Amino acid sequence: MSFEMFIPGKAFFGAGVVSKVVELIGNGVKKVFLVTDENLVRHGTAKRLEQILEAGGVEVQIFHEVEPEPSVETTDKAAALARNFGAQAVVGLGGGSCMDVAKAVSVLVTNEGSAANYQGLGLVKKPGVLKIMIPTTAGTGSEVTFTAVLIRRSDGFKGGINDEKLFADYAILDPELTMTAPPKVTAASGMDALIHALEAYTSIHATWFSDMFAQEAIRRIGKWIRIATWNGKNLEARSHMQYAAYLAGLALVHAGVGACHALSYPLGGMFGVGHGIANALLIPYVVRANAFSCPGRYTNVLKWLGYVDEGSNINVRDGALLCAEALDELLEDLELPRTLESLSVGITSEHFPEMAEKALAVSRPMENNPRPFDKELCIKIYEEAMK
Ligand SMILES: [Fe+2]
Repeated sequence: MSFEMFIPGKAFFGAGVVSKVVELIGNGVKKVFLVTDENLVRHGTAKRLEQILEAGGVEVQIFHEVEPEPSVETTDKAAALARNFGAQAVVGLGGGSCMDVAKAVSVLVTNEGSAANYQGLGLVKKPGVLKIMIPTTAGTGSEVTFTAVLIRRSDGFKGGINDEKLFADYAILDPELTMTAPPKVTAASGMDALIHALEAYTSIHATWFSDMFAQEAIRRIGKWIRIATWNGKNLEARSHMQYAAYLAGLALVHAGVGACHALSYPLGGMFGVGHGIANALLIPYVVRANAFSCPGRYTNVLKWLGYVDEGSNINVRDGALLCAEALDELLEDLELPRTLESLSVGITSEHFPEMAEKALAVSRPMENNPRPFDKELCIKIYEEAMK
């Protein structure tokens, strides 16, 4: 086995660590563009950060129009404002959507044109301005990935700007900031993190290094996701989830995600289903389809999730199948949607061929998946997930 190892940027973890932001920005930066959403404005989190920055002598412009599944159009609008403002640094405050837009805006300040010009791999020409990511949900791992996923409203295409120039310079992981996330957001983003770790662990590009992060993330999420969801004021649970989401992001950066992420893209692009919800709904079916491609690995996941004693001699066939069941049970405990029908967004079986084609076009995650997927298998999974 041969592989590459790195930890992008520098990260800070701990309750209250958000106050470090001024120190990280440094003396040379006087204009900070803050990318966030309406919820964080309403909860006062954006204001609190603005005050911390202004007390440090920094001028702040807030952009709070990021939508749940962010678009190229919104990103272009933010970038135009940031260019006009003369932003020297971009701070992303929020879930994956806010951080993705912030990362994209950072490079759009120095690279001309629309975000759409850079959707693909390695298309960004110049490094962006300083970027600091501050996640307020424990999930996407966007603070540690080099991707910004954006939907083009014009044609529903959902694709990432994937470029090493998108890595954040600093990530600030302050679990106190995740305390206001409601149960549904906590559950959906926590499942996204779990699926990052699980798909990285079963990726054909998994390495000893990525496995280490994936395993630790799965253990912590298995133990704490229910508590963080149903007892949101529990700082210990929030801390483990925040740390686990970061570890899962590191696993993803090294090994990639798999078919579940690819299959979830059309749910977001065509029907506006949130990323975490879409992935969570599909994962039991994807694990069932993948089960015999790496049964020992799924059996390990089952153990790390705490469903089976680590020392038990469960055979790997049973272990892999039970892993799919355990994930379905977890969705039930978290009260997340378990069928496409229950989403009530108008998905019918007539959409499946188009959805399958769009999922297969998400080529990198599909290529990472241990079992090769074709159109027939994609449609089968959507059919199973329907009711
Ligand atoms: Fe994800």
